[in-house]
Amino acid sequence: MNMSEIATEGLLYKQAEQYIRESYHERSVPQSQMLARLSDIRDEINEIGTYNHTIEELTYGAKLAWRNSNRCIGRLFWESLTVIDARHVTNTDEMAQVLFRHIREATNEGRIKPMISIFPPASSRAVKPPRIWNHQLVRYAGYETESGVIGDPASVAFTTTCLSLGWRGAGSAFDVLPLVLSLEDGEPSLYPIPEELVKEVPIAHPHIEGIGELGLKWYAVPFVADMRLEIGGIHYTAAPFNGWYMGTEIGARNLADDDRYNMLPDIAAAMGLDTTSAFTLWKDRALVELNIAVLHSFREHGVTIVDHHTAAGQFKRFQKNENDNDRDVTGRWSWLIPPLSPATTHLFHSSFDDEIKLPNYFYQN
Ligand code: ARG
Repeated sequence: MNMSEIATEGLLYKQAEQYIRESYHERSVPQSQMLARLSDIRDEINEIGTYNHTIEELTYGAKLAWRNSNRCIGRLFWESLTVIDARHVTNTDEMAQVLFRHIREATNEGRIKPMISIFPPASSRAVKPPRIWNHQLVRYAGYETESGVIGDPASVAFTTTCLSLGWRGAGSAFDVLPLVLSLEDGEPSLYPIPEELVKEVPIAHPHIEGIGELGLKWYAVPFVADMRLEIGGIHYTAAPFNGWYMGTEIGARNLADDDRYNMLPDIAAAMGLDTTSAFTLWKDRALVELNIAVLHSFREHGVTIVDHHTAAGQFKRFQKNENDNDRDVTGRWSWLIPPLSPATTHLFHSSFDDEIKLPNYFYQN
């Protein structure tokens, strides 16, 4: 991010004040304590140009940022987020150790726990803010070859970066990329993830054998690593988080999109479908069976996953909880509807206000 985005001291206090007032009120902290805290924050900003969140402020802020994530259908569980305070790290080796622990504990042998690790925030003194260069902590490489991309086309640019930093992949369609980490000097360091930490699920269908024979797999946990967490004017530029997968993310997008793994023609072939005419809806039939295979395989391997109908039902409960607490639910309709059979869920027939509330998670370059 651009350092000019970091608030000047007056603005920073204002942003802090808004967060402290709202969150202390929600947490039912007595007014006197809240006012005392605001005066401490004012002093700290005057003295050092910024302020440090207490562990409670950090934890609640990360949870609120999830609750405010308009694109997320899984927000019912916002209060269950486990927050790892990693603001003390001083080098990328320590950062990698925290991330390895995050991967192990969140994967939890398949019983996935929503978790976030929060590294030191961007400081106005630093030239560069702390960053994880990966899009997700665990993701597959993509190699451009003369006969097309091997692996995940979405990873081609980042894979090139890893190769230029000296990494060598095996060249399969499912090579797990290394972590690329940088702190204030901006110099990237590579950390291959120990294999035993990366849980993966081979994809097979409950009765269409040919689908299992395609050799597909996916990793168990989506760890989004490149978003910025903003709480009370403080920008946490390295704050990777995870939930668990909704099946369609893998079955209707990652493995299905024609600019990703583009597997629908292979699935259709495994099903013996006639693919000469769109009119037969072979793509739709292949899509449904691929999604059944993803859900079935994750369940067989004891890895948490949710189908899109159940997830929509959970979102409905979230909407009710929020309304019961006199809060309105913001959302982005185009992201909340699932990519498979959207009109079978209530989301398709609803509309949402996409206003961005703070705290929140933001894209960064
Ligand atoms: N859609 C992304 C993927 O397929 C993951 C985004 C986060 N998803 C989640 N269930 N928390 O890898």
